[in-house]
Amino acid sequence: MKLSPAGLAACVAASVILTLPAQVTPRPLPRIVKKDGRFALFVDDAPYLMLGAQVHNSSTWPAMLPKVWPAMEYLNVNTVEAPIYWEQLEPRPGQFDYTVLDTLLTEARQHRLRLVLLWFGTWKNGSQHYMPEWMKLAPDRYPHMVDKNGHAVDSPSPYAAASLEADKAAFSAFMRHLKAADPQRTVIMVQVENEPGTWGSVRDYSPEAQKLFEAPVPPEVLAAMQVKPSTPAPNWQEAFGPEAEVNFHAWSVAKYVGQVAAAGKAVYPLPLYANAALRDPLKPGAPGSYESGGPTDNVLPIWKVAAPALDVLAPDIYQNDPAAYLKVLELYHRDDNPLFVPETGNPANARFFFTALGLQAIGFSPFGMDYTPTRSTADPAHPREEFLTPWAMNYRLIGPMQREIARLNFEGKLQAVADVKGKLTETLPFGTWNAQVSYGAARNNRTVGNPEPTGRVLVAQLKDNQFLVTGFSVRVDFRPAGTEQQRKSQHIVEGTGQTPSALIDGKWQHRQFMRVEEGIYENGVFKFLRIWNGDETDWGLNFGTEPVVLRVSLATY
Ligand code: DGJ
Repeated sequence: MKLSPAGLAACVAASVILTLPAQVTPRPLPRIVKKDGRFALFVDDAPYLMLGAQVHNSSTWPAMLPKVWPAMEYLNVNTVEAPIYWEQLEPRPGQFDYTVLDTLLTEARQHRLRLVLLWFGTWKNGSQHYMPEWMKLAPDRYPHMVDKNGHAVDSPSPYAAASLEADKAAFSAFMRHLKAADPQRTVIMVQVENEPGTWGSVRDYSPEAQKLFEAPVPPEVLAAMQVKPSTPAPNWQEAFGPEAEVNFHAWSVAKYVGQVAAAGKAVYPLPLYANAALRDPLKPGAPGSYESGGPTDNVLPIWKVAAPALDVLAPDIYQNDPAAYLKVLELYHRDDNPLFVPETGNPANARFFFTALGLQAIGFSPFGMDYTPTRSTADPAHPREEFLTPWAMNYRLIGPMQREIARLNFEGKLQAVADVKGKLTETLPFGTWNAQVSYGAARNNRTVGNPEPTGRVLVAQLKDNQFLVTGFSVRVDFRPAGTEQQRKSQHIVEGTGQTPSALIDGKWQHRQFMRVEEGIYENGVFKFLRIWNGDETDWGLNFGTEPVVLRVSLATY
């Protein structure tokens, strides 16, 4: 394309505007808000739902980005999680190279995507592989941990003062640059370290660590873990017995990560989080059988007191057993912690995005979602589209109404669940109505379950008698539930006929569809397409594998 001089001048002016962020009016800072016991991530001053995907570990390099964006487009994400490498950012002590970060920012904006940046600093999957070369070559100054036998472990020491100072300085430099370069708030959250902790040794056995291990446990740790000591000022062994070493290591790692987080937050107060390599939530095994020191479910209170600059402790969920997956979601959805799933794998688990939503998750993100040659270890065999499609289906459905869903969830009006083999039906209570969910139901046939448990459903109450309903491979209907008073006095008997009904205080109430509107969301607004009636409603509201959104108005007769 040939440009006229005026066109050229306009382009130059546009690119100047793009590269001069100082001229952009700063948008409100992203932040985590808690109200009435529920959390939301606020972006641009309103609840935001991260429909995320994380790239492979070596995909932030500018030459790889062309293989990232098409995958993100296919997935319909609104947020990309991408690492920032300490070894690249600080090639020489105190000299910082922001080119990779800047390219990422520019290209994310061009694709109208937000970012969550992952600080691959002192810890990456328990090791120190992303420390710059000049640190790796000076192990005396930036030491490894020492195991029981006195051997160096492939994991950094959490007591290395020089490493901590170097990490704090580098992380602060990164956050300072972000503050200056990102008034648009393209970056909405930052992960501090990656799966911090240690494989191969439950704790550090260096003389310094040993001394601390034998010293009294800080009182705030005892309080957080609800330990009432029988002796005054117990040491770790006395206070925690078999869990002493893992708790001690969690305290040591969390203290370090907490200081890095605090240093960065002092510069630029974005929401920060740390992610965990999990222990089995159902059969945890002894300390040492899982990564020690990270924010695993057993030590979350320790992490909360040791690292208050972290807003969220988040599980990387690679569990394939559905019961274990659901247990993890439950364990990280706490009164002091918003649920956020920064990594997950296995397309069969895609449906649990809905379960996470049902627990007011602020975000969800499958791992390894780009077209670089590396395949996710979680799923090496799947052809690309097959690997991406189950996740993409979620985001194609929820994407157009993401802000509405985030708002309804923050207001406590939304419930969402997913299919688990063997559980054919479930009931979602909404005051005077119960939403009845069934999997594998066809017309007037019995509910038999889906051939594979792929069902997922979301129901949100818009008004007393109006609901937003959507999902895949599921049937939803509504049954009168009576008032709170009637429910308390238990004068309710559920009918078994085709139309959901209930005998409430001696009077039958039958569900009546007043209006079932199918529509699509455009810019957050529901646009009417048609009314469902006849065959479309006679057997309940049936959702297949196409994205369908219904607005359902109910009455009784
Ligand atoms: C969890 C880590 O946090 C990721 O960076 C990645 O290494 C995956 N495991 C496995 O591919």
